[in-house]
Amino acid sequence: MNSVLRIALQKSGRLSEDSYQLFKECGIRFDYGTGKLKSISSNFPAEFLFLRDDDIPGYVEDGVADLGIVGENVAVETARQVQTIHKLGFSKCRLSIAIPRGTDWAGLSDLEGKNIATSYPNLLGSYLAEQGVQATIHEISGSVEIAPSIGLAEAVCDIVSSGSTLLSNGLKEVETIFRSEAILIANPQMNNERQALTEQLLFRIKAVQAAKN
Ligand code: PRP
Ligand code: ZN
Ligand code: MG
Repeated sequence: MNSVLRIALQKSGRLSEDSYQLFKECGIRFDYGTGKLKSISSNFPAEFLFLRDDDIPGYVEDGVADLGIVGENVAVETARQVQTIHKLGFSKCRLSIAIPRGTDWAGLSDLEGKNIATSYPNLLGSYLAEQGVQATIHEISGSVEIAPSIGLAEAVCDIVSSGSTLLSNGLKEVETIFRSEAILIANPQMNNERQALTEQLLFRIKAVQAAKN
């Protein structure tokens, strides 16, 4: 009785505004942007947790949160035991390989024996294996685009949305390896009450999406 759905959202970043907007359109009110990391809705049995996006699949797997909104890129990379229950259609982006703008590019084989900096070692590793390319992957958690200019790697593999981060770091996109959008993920072991609340939420989300099409 009186379950409250715990929903994990990105604290600040590419997904945040669109995620907040989605709940607003669903008529679910809560405060955010006050620096608080938790907020209870005033009109729906939900508590919102504001977290780093990379941590969200783990929290949902562990049941600390029942639901979460993340990019498919993060969900696939972290490989947690969570259920994808709905595609949300916003925060579209791609995971791409990029190299310094002045460098020639003949194809993926140019990466043979090279160093690639990324925050997505699993997605990149499987892609390179699939393509039969041997390269060294350097995992870094942020500011990946700086790697070539400081001599850490010849190429990077990172998220591209508008392309402005690549541009301002003198890089050009040469290969897209994964396409992503925001998704709603769920803990697979929710009790019946939480499942029922999730259904109510999904019903509203689908209505909001239908009204836009
Ligand atoms: C990605 C990526 C770049 C930026 C690219 O970060 O790491 O920093 O977005 O976007 P642009 O092409 O519009 O410039 P993300 O928002 O996924 O956040 P995080 O790496 O901090 O988790
Ligand atoms: Zn992140
Ligand atoms: Mg980033």
